[in-house]
Amino acid sequence: MPNSDAYFRFVHVWKSFGDQPVLQDVSFDVRQGETCVILGRSGVGKSVTLKHILGFLKPDQGEIYVADRDVVKMTEGELTEMRRKVTMVFQSGALFDSLTVGENVAYPLRERALRERGLQDEDKIQNLVDQLLGLVELEDVKDLMPADLSTGMKRAVAIARALAAHPEAILYDEPTTMVDPLMAQTIGDLILKLKRQRGLTSIVVTHDMKLARKLADRVVFLVEGRVAFFGPMSELDKSSEPVIQDFIQLDEVSLLK
Ligand SMILES: Nc1ncnc2c1ncn2[C@@H]1O[C@H](COP(=O)(O)OP(=O)(O)OP(=O)(O)O)[C@@H](O)[C@H]1O
Ligand SMILES: [Mg+2]
Repeated sequence: MPNSDAYFRFVHVWKSFGDQPVLQDVSFDVRQGETCVILGRSGVGKSVTLKHILGFLKPDQGEIYVADRDVVKMTEGELTEMRRKVTMVFQSGALFDSLTVGENVAYPLRERALRERGLQDEDKIQNLVDQLLGLVELEDVKDLMPADLSTGMKRAVAIARALAAHPEAILYDEPTTMVDPLMAQTIGDLILKLKRQRGLTSIVVTHDMKLARKLADRVVFLVEGRVAFFGPMSELDKSSEPVIQDFIQLDEVSLLK
C-alpha cells in the first residue's frame, strides 16, 4: 500500500512502445510539499513519466498513485477531476494564442466559476489575475498576446495560469530549455519562490543540473527508462554510477565556458 505522506508514487512501472522498452521497473515517490527533479538525457522517458501521472498514458505493468488513488484504475471523470488538482506546465507553454495574457490566466478562474455555478465576479477575477501576474513579475504584459512574448515569458505566464487553477501539485516539463541563461535563472528562481511560498508538491523534469541543484529535494535519475539513482540531491554527487558521473562532469565543463 502507498505511503500516506507520498503525494505521487510509482510502483514497479513498466511501459513499452511496440518492442521499445521505455520505462523499466520505475519506482519512486514524491512526498507532500516536496520538489522532486527527474533528471536524464534526451529520450530516457522523462516526459513519458509525467504523462503516466496524468493518465494520458497507461503502464503495461505497475501502479501509479496520486494522493493515494491508483491512476490506472480511475475513470475518465476521475481523471478529469485529478487533472484539476495536478496541473502541468508544458515545455511550449501551451497558451491559448487568441487570448491575451490576462485572459489566459483568467481562463481557469472562469472555468471554475462556471463549474461551481458561481457568479463570475469580474473585479475579483481581474484582481486575482493581477496578483498571479505580479507573482511571476509580468504585470506589464497583461494585455499582450502570447505571440508578443519571448519563450521564457510564455513559460512564466503558463506557470501563472497553472497556479490560477489552484492546484495541489505542479508538473514542470523542461522549464528552462530553449531560453537564455538569465531567463533560465529567472524561471528557476520563480519555481523556487513558489516552492517556498506555497509549499506545492512539484515534479520538475529537466537536464539542467544547475536547476536541479537549486530546486531538488530528491532526484530521480533515469538512464534508458531505469531509475539509476533515487535519493536526496546531496547524495547524487556521490553516486559511482559512470553515466551519472559523466552527466555531472559534462555539466561542470559547460559551466566553465
Ligand atoms: N506516444 C509514443 N509512442 C511511441 N513512442 C513514444 C511515445 N512517447 C514517447 N515515445 C518514445 O519514448 C522514449 C522516451 O520519450 P520521452 O519523451 O519520455 O523522452 P524524454 O526523456 O522526455 O526526452 P527529452 O529530454 O528529449 O524531452 C523516446 O524514445 C520516444 O520516442
Ligand atoms: Mg521530454
